[in-house]
Amino acid sequence: MWTFTSPRLIVYGEDALSFLEGEKAVRVLIVADESMLKLGYVDLVKNTLKAEKIEIFSEVEPEPSIETTLKCVEVAKKLQPELILAVGGGSVIDVAKATRILMELEIDPIAITPFTDLFELGYRRKAKFIAIPTTSGTGADVTWTSILTDKAEQRKLTPANREMVPDITLLDYRFVAEMPRRLVAGSGMDALTHAIEGFVSVWRNEFSDAFCEKAVEIIMENLEKSYKGDLEARAKMHIAATMAGLGFGNSQVGLAHSFGHTFGAIFKLHHGVSVGLFLPYVMQFYLKSEIKSRIDLLARKNGFQNAEELICRIIDLIKNLQLPNKLSEIVSREEFGDKLESLVMNTLNDSSLGMSPRIPDYDQVKKIYEYAFEGKWIDF
Ligand SMILES: [Fe+2]
Repeated sequence: MWTFTSPRLIVYGEDALSFLEGEKAVRVLIVADESMLKLGYVDLVKNTLKAEKIEIFSEVEPEPSIETTLKCVEVAKKLQPELILAVGGGSVIDVAKATRILMELEIDPIAITPFTDLFELGYRRKAKFIAIPTTSGTGADVTWTSILTDKAEQRKLTPANREMVPDITLLDYRFVAEMPRRLVAGSGMDALTHAIEGFVSVWRNEFSDAFCEKAVEIIMENLEKSYKGDLEARAKMHIAATMAGLGFGNSQVGLAHSFGHTFGAIFKLHHGVSVGLFLPYVMQFYLKSEIKSRIDLLARKNGFQNAEELICRIIDLIKNLQLPNKLSEIVSREEFGDKLESLVMNTLNDSSLGMSPRIPDYDQVKKIYEYAFEGKWIDF
């Protein structure tokens, strides 16, 4: 049996925000971060609502902690919102996802798993949940996982449940028009990696394929243009990131995320920049397996002769976005050597490893890191 999970409504366009004018909720909680306040995006949303009581929680930090999430939960418990609105990137949406459940249920976030029947525990879905993403990459507005950091234990928690998917995602292009170029590049590479990894994942299915395939097409056509300031391309990227989210959210990501997560966590590199850096190397590694025919297919659908040509275009794209395309651009040989063993072990333990179409062993992971450090084409 297969299932496909998505929000019940996706509202998109230049005036998507006006959808909120019809909202009847009396008490609304807006979850955001400081930058959303400064950019005036929170006010923009607030002024569209007719609610009697609006509370704003704007303390979400990058890689949000459990502590921050629980603070937000306290605000929600007091207010008892009928609507939770997340205005921000993946971090903000992740906090809102957990808040909607934890405002009703006294449970450890770690107990929220894909198999937990929240309704049996007393969950009544008291608040509607609308996501307004302000970056174009994470797909958090349509996926059912939240990534929270347990600072005390120095570990990441990933509560996941279908009840965490927003009811509505609202893609209004105004919120991405002012995105800094570096973020356009990094989040765009995250979206491309989601779409390609979702397309070759061992859990791929017809529905996820449809979204991943279309997302790759739009991203390959528009990411560079968006980076150069083309706002029409930026709008298309905003839709494509959500499409990629619908794709990989229903099939899973793979090795580029295993390597990217691990390297990014140790060397403090932006998630999208990190997974994007590893994408061409991982695709090269896949070429020596049965999945090559699928990458060839994806290449042909995008006007390339074969997988190798598509990979070369992705490498050019990374360079044109002024992002690093080998590890030696980020760390010295010494720093890299010091951490190599941890990098290899953490990569082998990463949760995305199991869904990739070719799983490397210890020596291969080490070799992939070495090749990615030098910028060498992976030929094994
Ligand atoms: Fe990602």
